[in-house]
Amino acid sequence: MWCLAALTAEDIRRSRWVSPPLTNGRIFMRKFLSSAALAVVMMAGFGSAHAADVKEVQMLHWWTSGGEAAALNVLKQDLAKEGFAWKDVPVAGGGGDAAMTALKAMVAAGTYPTASQMLGYTVLDYAQAGVMGDLTETAKKEGWDKSVPAALQKFSVYDGKWVAAPVNVHSVNWLWINKSVMDKIGGTQPKTFDDLIALLDKAKAAGVIPLALGGQNWQEATMFDSIVLSTGGPEFYKKAFNDLDEESLKSDTMKKSFDNLAKIIKYVDPNFSGRDWNLATAMVIKGDALVQVMGDWAKGEFVAAKKKPNTDFLCYRFPGTDGSVVYNSDMFGMFNVPDDRKAAQVALAKATLSKSFQSAFNVVKGSVPARTDVSDKDFDACGKKGIADLKAANEGGTLFGSLAQGYGAPPAIANAYKDVVSKFVHGQIKTSDEAVTQLVQAIDDAR
Ligand code: GAL
Repeated sequence: MWCLAALTAEDIRRSRWVSPPLTNGRIFMRKFLSSAALAVVMMAGFGSAHAADVKEVQMLHWWTSGGEAAALNVLKQDLAKEGFAWKDVPVAGGGGDAAMTALKAMVAAGTYPTASQMLGYTVLDYAQAGVMGDLTETAKKEGWDKSVPAALQKFSVYDGKWVAAPVNVHSVNWLWINKSVMDKIGGTQPKTFDDLIALLDKAKAAGVIPLALGGQNWQEATMFDSIVLSTGGPEFYKKAFNDLDEESLKSDTMKKSFDNLAKIIKYVDPNFSGRDWNLATAMVIKGDALVQVMGDWAKGEFVAAKKKPNTDFLCYRFPGTDGSVVYNSDMFGMFNVPDDRKAAQVALAKATLSKSFQSAFNVVKGSVPARTDVSDKDFDACGKKGIADLKAANEGGTLFGSLAQGYGAPPAIANAYKDVVSKFVHGQIKTSDEAVTQLVQAIDDAR
């Protein structure tokens, strides 16, 4: 088990885990790690020398909800079959902010895990800092260049080298609806934003909490990604949240998006502040709330609760976003571990991108495969839709990185965005005019 503890210089020297960053990477690292927490994370048994390969995978991740843990178990079992022990480094907190703070501290201390769950631009940051390993040889043998979509390779390959293994593709522009509540209120699939508001009104009139949300900045921003896509359309989303085009960021369309956020936020219950995302999902599962706007990791919770699509719950694209997919992908970022840990890292990467794992894991996780050649036969109706939507969006040029989920822009910008959205939701920013001004300013400062 891993623990939080102070790490001495001697621990770090003895650990042999420090690999010198690239020369220009060193300057970057100083900047990158300057905000690392003072506490550092170390592993029990740390520092012991190994003559032979270490048959163990250490994994830092934030998959601690029921659905997430069930999905991770698929990987643990696959690796156990190959004789690798699992050293779990869980850091709770949906969206991964806490996990990424812990990871920064570990890397600052030179104690890299074998791999860490990471989102897009974070992988690139660590790669630029020179602390990632190189899986190119394995990638060539396994043919990842051909099977992993180009949109993911942009984040898993840095400077021609494979530095991460993509695990899945999630998308954020979904509604998750309790079917019996929907039937009870006589609701139908909302096709427009206004339809959605009318549906929320029906739930309210029936005494059900209309919208299940956790008032944490990453959840609010994840929902806002969908609202912006719905309000402005695909071109607008891309320009504003992937290209960071200033005209779009300060446009009337962005103001209207904040106005729409103000409309929808009225439908949450009074206790939403700070609530974890999976507790919000549980409200929908139990029928205490009608709908959650969330990435399809929410489906993992329905699956874990043995609920079935179209019988117990409904999955619709956020109204007005059909045909587009706002995605993120969990990646296992592979660090430059000592030689005796490389075999375990290769085993982990191969297991992660094997076709059988890609199917088994994603069926449980709620996401879809990170390879284009995996059959959808074991997926439920929502999973099949997710796979088909991803293919169509990829081919049609309507596949966009989620800004809230680390695929629109580097972490500093994403954090600035989450902060402004959250201040608006919680009333510290009072008007959409002010929200837009602050968004432009915050993104500018973070650039
Ligand atoms: C996302 C991640 C998902 C899921 C979610 C909630 O960032 O991509 O796999 O874990 O956070 O924790």
